[in-house]
Amino acid sequence: MSNAPSASGPDLTQGIGIDDQPPQAMLLGHVGDEPVLLVRRGERFFAVGATCTHYNGPLAEGIAEDDTVRCPWHHACFSLETGEAVRAPALSPLPCWAVEQRDGKVFVRDRKTAAPAKTLRAPAVPQKIVIVGGGAAAFAAAEQLRREGYPGSLVMLSNDDAPPVDRPNLSKDYLAGNAPEDWMPLRPESFYAEQGIELRLNSNVARVDVASREVVLDDGSRVPYERLLLATGAEPVRLALPGMDLPHVHTLRTLRDSRAIIARASASRRAVVLGASFIGLEVAASLRARGLEVHVVAPDKRPMERILGPQLGDFVRALHEEHGVVFHLEDTPASIDERRMHLKSGAALDADLVVAGVGVRPRTALAESAGLALDRGVLVDACLETSVPGIFAAGDIARWPDPHSGESIRVEHWVVAQRQGQTAALNMLGLRRSFDAVPFFWSQHYDVPINYVGHAPAWDEIDIDGDIAARDCAVRYKRGGRVLAVATIYRDVESLRAELLMERAAADH
Ligand SMILES: Cc1cc2nc3c(=O)[nH]c(=O)nc-3n(C[C@H](O)[C@H](O)[C@H](O)COP(=O)(O)OP(=O)(O)OC[C@H]3O[C@@H](n4cnc5c(N)ncnc54)[C@H](O)[C@@H]3O)c2cc1C
Ligand code: FES
Repeated sequence: MSNAPSASGPDLTQGIGIDDQPPQAMLLGHVGDEPVLLVRRGERFFAVGATCTHYNGPLAEGIAEDDTVRCPWHHACFSLETGEAVRAPALSPLPCWAVEQRDGKVFVRDRKTAAPAKTLRAPAVPQKIVIVGGGAAAFAAAEQLRREGYPGSLVMLSNDDAPPVDRPNLSKDYLAGNAPEDWMPLRPESFYAEQGIELRLNSNVARVDVASREVVLDDGSRVPYERLLLATGAEPVRLALPGMDLPHVHTLRTLRDSRAIIARASASRRAVVLGASFIGLEVAASLRARGLEVHVVAPDKRPMERILGPQLGDFVRALHEEHGVVFHLEDTPASIDERRMHLKSGAALDADLVVAGVGVRPRTALAESAGLALDRGVLVDACLETSVPGIFAAGDIARWPDPHSGESIRVEHWVVAQRQGQTAALNMLGLRRSFDAVPFFWSQHYDVPINYVGHAPAWDEIDIDGDIAARDCAVRYKRGGRVLAVATIYRDVESLRAELLMERAAADH
């Protein structure tokens, strides 16, 4: 998360020569103190805020496509016409300005008032929607329903004690001490009442009564639904090891977990992180930022190799070693006691704090008890509807028919969960939209962001463009000559273009 870019470039109220702007140009300028992006799409010009409403990404460094602008950092997408955040991870709109063309020049005029609330035009609007979950998919669905003008009852049931938070940040800036806690909620608490969203925290849903169309809470109370969204996410895997239940041994999923790690870190000198994938390594980086000595234990030969391949795996390892992390690879823990972790190799590591980031398991118990079709996740169709009509699933639990790979896939990515929540919202209103977003995730290690578009569980060729060590590369994962996924470091436009190519390839099919 960084501060918003300050106003720079030309004063757009003074007029810009139309012929100086190529037909698809983007120009960063300002109106007063505000950075504004002037975008030309053929004969039309648009003026929108230049700063992404997600983490303040510089939209002038993204791309314009059709009537949208896409953020270079995490691929949010905004309407140029209305400023609406049409694709997560951004949820709030951009400000928009009126534009006038006169005497061969284009002038940015007054700031437009916020777009009026949408009038819902949907075929089968239910009266009661219930969402189980308080995470990425659940929040995005609730927000989208109200954004579309859904007027009925909307209940969100979450067994967490905190309102929806920016979960990816729990292992990054927040854990590192670089983001204050008030950045963490996705919306202030007042938002839910204002939007008529009945958010019930500490509410564990025990089962779904499909016959009566009710969800049943732990205390036996029932909440009726006409449409139901299951967005129960995933839970950290807990290794069956002696000592895993000691108080200094943590996993990380919730704000409460992250707070507990921070509290323990403040009294610790040495941490051992179990697992060398995304969460484990982000935790390692954040604990280094807090000045702890950090050791990482993992069975893999290289960090992240299974997802990013050997070349990026070696890079990630070297990057963490540069920052003082010590790896114990091809080794696993045997037991943990109050002061030490004993490894299968016979080594022993001092540890005041242990964080296990060894993967997650989708929380499918509710879906299973409701009799929904499962296959390593909850099976949904292209509209994210489960095998029981009226019940939808989104996020980490959902396995959907991915039009890009042609396979049924389930992923554990923030942006995918949010976008699925948004699509599920439209489909609960009967709009029948296919979920066709290209999977995307990002991961941050110190000052190095890795962006990944597509889905490549296996490949037969890795194509490297650029120089990984110089932190300037695009790594393509191919099977049978076809690009399945692209990982980039500091090649944001290339990542956006790769996403676009995959979208078009699927649309042409
Ligand atoms: C520390 C961390 C860092 C991450 N960083 C990244 C990243 O950088 N990039 C990325 O793409 N992804 C990242 N992820 C993954 C991403 O956060 C998940 O893919 C995403 O949150 C999934 O969204 P979801 O809505 O499916 O589940 P969640 O966000 O986990 O939400 C599930 C919700 O369901 C609730 N719930 C579960 N069961 C019940 C029940 N029975 N009754 C009531 N409520 C229930 C939970 O309390 C929770 O509120 C990270 C995850 C973690 C933990
Ligand atoms: S900063 Fe724009 S999508 Fe994250």
